[in-house]
Amino acid sequence: MRRCKRNLNVAFSFSNKVMSICDKKKVDLNCEICDNIARLKSNEHRSSKAMSSNRGSFSGKIGFILAAAGSAVGLGNIWRFPYLAAQYGGGIFLLVYLILTVTFGFALMTAEIAIGRKTGLSTVGAFKKLNSRFAFLGYMGSVVPMIILPYYCVIGGWVTKYAVTFLTGNATSAASDTFFANFTGKSTESVLWLLLYIILTAVVVLLGVDKGIEKVSKIMMPVLVVITIFISVYTLFLPGAIDGVLYYITPDFSKFSVKTVLAAMGQLFYSMSIAMGIMVTYGSYLKKDVSIETSVRGIELFDTGVAFVSGLMIVPAVFAFSGGNQESLGQGPGLMFVTLPKVFDSMPGGTFIGAAFFILVFLAALTSSISLMETIVSIVKDKFNINRVWSCIAVIVLCLVLGIPSALGSSVWAEIKILGFQFLDFFDFISNSVLMPIVALITCIFVGYVIKPHSIIEEVELNSNKFKQRKLFVIVIKYLAPVCIVLILISSILSGLGIVKI
Ligand code: PHE
Repeated sequence: MRRCKRNLNVAFSFSNKVMSICDKKKVDLNCEICDNIARLKSNEHRSSKAMSSNRGSFSGKIGFILAAAGSAVGLGNIWRFPYLAAQYGGGIFLLVYLILTVTFGFALMTAEIAIGRKTGLSTVGAFKKLNSRFAFLGYMGSVVPMIILPYYCVIGGWVTKYAVTFLTGNATSAASDTFFANFTGKSTESVLWLLLYIILTAVVVLLGVDKGIEKVSKIMMPVLVVITIFISVYTLFLPGAIDGVLYYITPDFSKFSVKTVLAAMGQLFYSMSIAMGIMVTYGSYLKKDVSIETSVRGIELFDTGVAFVSGLMIVPAVFAFSGGNQESLGQGPGLMFVTLPKVFDSMPGGTFIGAAFFILVFLAALTSSISLMETIVSIVKDKFNINRVWSCIAVIVLCLVLGIPSALGSSVWAEIKILGFQFLDFFDFISNSVLMPIVALITCIFVGYVIKPHSIIEEVELNSNKFKQRKLFVIVIKYLAPVCIVLILISSILSGLGIVKI
């Protein structure tokens, strides 16, 4: 390429004059500088378009904290956390989890939100903008919600079915041994509940960031907290419940091992919705004057608080019901869908408590699936330059295509296995045990050694906000987190494939 004389003097200042020459289409196509200017202009146009009104934004700190906490608080807090705590030594698990939250969780979440806000883009564009060689990280991060959302909607559909069953006064039928197997075993029924749940999620996403996600979170999250506290206070008064509380909070040091730490760390990523591009996307909607550090502390408090109180609600209730039998707590999915309905049915006022509980789980799941869908919609929208409605339709189709096999995995497709897993378990394993630790690890390396921690610190300290925990942030991102994540990754793959048992 040659350089045309006209632009030679002005080219490096990229002045308005040069831009207007390009506007008038007097660009010399063979000129390297004209070509560069045109490219620069179109990039600038694209990114300002992305940052501008069509992206939407949260109205302020509270809206942001509640929406991000809405994403974080989900099935992981209400169903998974209590049984992990019961299984891994009660109080000792709680302590390890708390320490990891305020160190690892804090550092990773801060980094993701800052990356989103700094670039004003969703995950694919964000990493690419910071360093084009790391665009792949954005793609990897965006695959995780695409895998999680469809099966999360399948479970969301089951929860909706239970909420409706309790609300219509059919607690006894929900408590029967065969209820869960019966309805998940009917293919049309599970697909219909899946479809209903996807539509409910999509309606909120279609309403947009401030009018949909923020508004819904501002209503649902306080309701969720009130219901959680109400049910836990109620269950604490059941006969035999206090033994369950003691079992839940007393540290059992004999159960402490490296597995406790690994289980707590895996739960932490999932529960805080990190390593999957969600916090990058939400960060891109955050205004520059909001403090990232205090927001992250608020989200952590919400997430860990709801997880802890959920344990207080479930462990003592199941303990009292089963006469102190610890095994009844370690049943995985069966705990929420098979054991708990029986517990509710046996309590005075159980229909009401059961309905309140499944409404709670429904709200928690819905705010999480909204964040998953929003993240994918935002990626599709930025990538293909289409509007929210079309990208939402594309995501609904994706959800159905990947969700239907998971929904049918308990009925007509029960025989089909991938690496020994049913569809739903396979998607869960690939996303949580393989992709999330990999994305978290590369994110730490990217922040610690490529863009360097100071670029995140700068963003956190914008508008004269102080970054109080900056030292902790640097140590965790550069050294502690990478080492520990490699450990989780190896152990979770080995345990997922049944080579070791965690
Ligand atoms: N954090 C959510 C929970 O605890 C789960 C979730 C995972 C939500 C991934 C969004 C994305 O259940």
